[in-house]
Amino acid sequence: MSHVNLGMIEEAAAFIQSKGGVKPEVGLILGSGLGVLADLLVDTLSIPYSDIPHFPVSTVEGHEGELLLGKIQGRPVVMMKGRFHMYEGYGPEVTAFPVRVMKQLGVKSLLVTNAAGGIDTSFEPGDLMLITDHLNMTGRNPLIGPNDPALGVRFPDMSEAYSRRLRKLALETAENHGVMLKQGIYAGLLGPTYETPAEIVMLRTLGAHAVGMSTVSEVIVARHAGLEVLGISCISNMAAGILDQPLSHEEVMETAEKVRDQFLKLVMAVIPAM
Ligand code: HPA
Repeated sequence: MSHVNLGMIEEAAAFIQSKGGVKPEVGLILGSGLGVLADLLVDTLSIPYSDIPHFPVSTVEGHEGELLLGKIQGRPVVMMKGRFHMYEGYGPEVTAFPVRVMKQLGVKSLLVTNAAGGIDTSFEPGDLMLITDHLNMTGRNPLIGPNDPALGVRFPDMSEAYSRRLRKLALETAENHGVMLKQGIYAGLLGPTYETPAEIVMLRTLGAHAVGMSTVSEVIVARHAGLEVLGISCISNMAAGILDQPLSHEEVMETAEKVRDQFLKLVMAVIPAM
């Protein structure tokens, strides 16, 4: 699948709606090791990605592929447990296809989460970082190709990619619940290699505070679709070259596990107010 059109989006959404389940208002994309939120859903309907028309199938370990509909604190949500990455070989418009389907289902705001390497040396593994903005370092864009005005404008504004209103809400919620929430700019790269130490120095020079291999194409499509976006990174490791140790996916998953309770506390409180 390379080109995405409205018909494909409608077909996927109609299939999901035909299964029953809630009419979602908030969309959630759960990053590596952060799938635990799915256990807190009520009235859950689970649909494997492989059943949904035009959905690709996620291949990476630690990313189960299912779309979940249900309620969190009474709020109807649609949740992606497992996402699609460009390093799996998918084009950016494919990785972001589910966001367009969420919009078609009636979603108004999107919470994107990810595991990321800490570039800011004041960060520590286990920190949660509110994404204030991003650097799209993938060299790709999901909106390349003919623009369908039914989906959004040709030249979308990205000056508030991560909603000011939702950032304020997240910071206040974190404060009220005693959750430490740092803030910073997320650099999205293609992967699948982790970065070299020189690349991390470059990214720091460019203003990035954290680095990962997801999120940017989803957020671009969300903004194109007029969705309000909230982004939270779990700093799972210090980026390459900061500590004298190699990076591993195991470390990323282990840290996500450790920060789980704080993460859940924050998102459970934020979602009803989104
Ligand atoms: N780099 C890129 N992606 C990541 C990292 C990292 O250090 N940690 C988790 N995802």
